[in-house]
Amino acid sequence: MPIRQFQAQRMHAPRDFKSIAPEPICVEIGAGKGKHALLFSQNNPEQKLIAVERTREKFIAMQKQHAIEGQTNLQTVHADALPWVVHALYPAQVEQFFILYPNPEPHNPAQRWANMPFFEFLLSRLKTGGTITLASNIPEYIDEAEQQVKDLWNLPYVKEVIAQDSARTHFEIKYLERGELCQQLIIRKPEGYATRFDDFQPLQGQNSVASE
Ligand SMILES: C[S@@+](CC[C@H](N)C(=O)[O-])C[C@H]1O[C@@H](n2cnc3c(N)ncnc32)[C@H](O)[C@@H]1O
Repeated sequence: MPIRQFQAQRMHAPRDFKSIAPEPICVEIGAGKGKHALLFSQNNPEQKLIAVERTREKFIAMQKQHAIEGQTNLQTVHADALPWVVHALYPAQVEQFFILYPNPEPHNPAQRWANMPFFEFLLSRLKTGGTITLASNIPEYIDEAEQQVKDLWNLPYVKEVIAQDSARTHFEIKYLERGELCQQLIIRKPEGYATRFDDFQPLQGQNSVASE
């Protein structure tokens, strides 16, 4: 693949890292205040979801609402998703990733999810038939990601327009109220898909960041 390889072994474990069991899970990256995570875990009691959020205030809002609602199949994590994914997830463990309305990174295309070398690592954690749902209100973001999914990652996908009455996340509600076009790619990992990280086992807390 014509992209520099993600340096997984250089990732330090997030502060207070806790390992997880090697069981099938879904993972939401950039869960914000957790609206989708709470709804998904409520509506899919047989599936386990881990919702990762980097921004402290948003994570705390999600944690508070989770304490009120009490879904036992939801785990919330306050961390940067990159090191957390590297240290926590097992190869082919994940049934679904959700990346809903990520920061558009207008001045930093290299930080958009489908452009990142890290995306290959993410694919290695997905099980065969598993999906990545990537939603955005920015048509150029979706178009660019679609090109990457086709040309660079060689993955099957469907592109969907989000219904006007959808209300999965706080950002989705805001964008649909403004009349913006919200779209998503549902990207699927096909049978036999190989990445350079398929044998990379989670570091399980190695390279931990020392507490300050
Ligand atoms: C535009 S907000 C969308 C939040 C939520 N998904 C929604 O739709 O309401 C993007 C979120 O992704 C989080 N985020 C960005 N990069 C992240 C990373 N590397 N790890 C974890 N969270 C991240 C940000 O802190 C922010 O809360």
